[in-house]
Amino acid sequence: MEAHLAFRFSPADVPDAENGRGLRLQLGVCGSVAAYRALDLLRQWQDAGFSVGVTLTPSAQRFVTPLPFEALGATPVYTSLFEDPRASSPFAHLEPGQTCRAFVVAPASAATLERLVRGAADELLPCQALAFRGPLVVAPAMNPAMWEHPATRHNIDILRSRGVMIVPPGTGRTACGDLGQGRLADLRHIYLAGLRAALPQDLAGTRALVTLGPTREVWDGVRFWSNASTGTMGASLALALWLRGAEVHAVCGPGAVWLPSENAIEGVAPLYRHDVTSAKEMLEASMEVWSQMDMGIFTAAVADYSPESRGPAKFKKSEAPEGFSLRFTPNPDILRTLAAKRKNGSPQKVMGFAAESGNLATAVQGKLLSKRADMIVGNLLGDGFGTAENTVHVADRHGRTADWSRLPKPVLAWRLVSWLASL
Ligand code: CTP
Repeated sequence: MEAHLAFRFSPADVPDAENGRGLRLQLGVCGSVAAYRALDLLRQWQDAGFSVGVTLTPSAQRFVTPLPFEALGATPVYTSLFEDPRASSPFAHLEPGQTCRAFVVAPASAATLERLVRGAADELLPCQALAFRGPLVVAPAMNPAMWEHPATRHNIDILRSRGVMIVPPGTGRTACGDLGQGRLADLRHIYLAGLRAALPQDLAGTRALVTLGPTREVWDGVRFWSNASTGTMGASLALALWLRGAEVHAVCGPGAVWLPSENAIEGVAPLYRHDVTSAKEMLEASMEVWSQMDMGIFTAAVADYSPESRGPAKFKKSEAPEGFSLRFTPNPDILRTLAAKRKNGSPQKVMGFAAESGNLATAVQGKLLSKRADMIVGNLLGDGFGTAENTVHVADRHGRTADWSRLPKPVLAWRLVSWLASL
């Protein structure tokens, strides 16, 4: 899994945990060739710090057995409404509702969607869902004709109207060989939908801008000036904000990392991605949304200068046999420009980053003042550039500081979002 998706939660990250509802998810699996893919989901949520219970429908058990789920540590793995040897109490149909924060059905078959709509309690999975008050996520998988059928459309519409989160199937060749929409969605979308359903939505109703990745300043028809930023820290922050309910606008430089697509999960505020190339384009895209934002997090490694352009043709060796010098002109400072647009007392909060080669704490304090940011996160070059972890010194406008060593970027992102939200 990509580094920016590797979230790891502890109970302290979930302040609303109550009634024994800790970091726990229920995964329902239906009859589909894609049933085996539920094993990957199980693994990913466990890696994120969740315990996972699994319910296999009778049809699912034609495709997969309980054994690999148990071997990977799912507890319990339910297989039947009555006399289930794995259920520790006669109330197996109530247990997910008592202990889990979210219920994800992946893959969800047409038959189970119909049972969920009807509130049928004739199989354990829909019965558990009926007794579940928390967020429900469905990730359907079926033949394209079945997915397009008015009966399925009707069922999906009803589930949507009840606030069920839907991860629509992907388009391509399905297991039966037909082309169309029907195969199980990208697992990354289902993984994120499960996390989002399970995590506190303390940023619901807020909007956040995140700049990320490098910028690319074109010199001639084939060459440009740029840097090695991957956008991992910015993508981790964009996801941390979005997982907590914020509508996020990610302004991404070229080559920046994967983010969920806008319509990947129905029923939640989207994560909008604005792809740009140069520093000027990044400023324009950020300016366009800034007035509606509650927060701005500026992680992009913006090129401070652009080479004076040689135009669209390729610069030939014969033009400079003895070598040549380039003239660079300054680019706008995006963070400074947008932070300065805030009026006194503006509720907009701003977080900046500082990449330094020495004197980290001093440089962070300097940038906190010079950029008029609410907090600055500084790291030494080599400690965070192009790596999965980051070692940082953080300072805010109230004089608070922290030093965190070698934290995975998504874990750091979660802490930083909590900090910014509390300012
Ligand atoms: N930044 C920006 N626009 C720029 C340059 C930087 O928005 N043209 C933002 C970065 O996204 C980061 C912060 O400003 O949040 C600091 O960036 P950094 O490269 O560390 O510092 P610079 O401002 O470029 O200053 P210097 O190169 O002198 O350290």
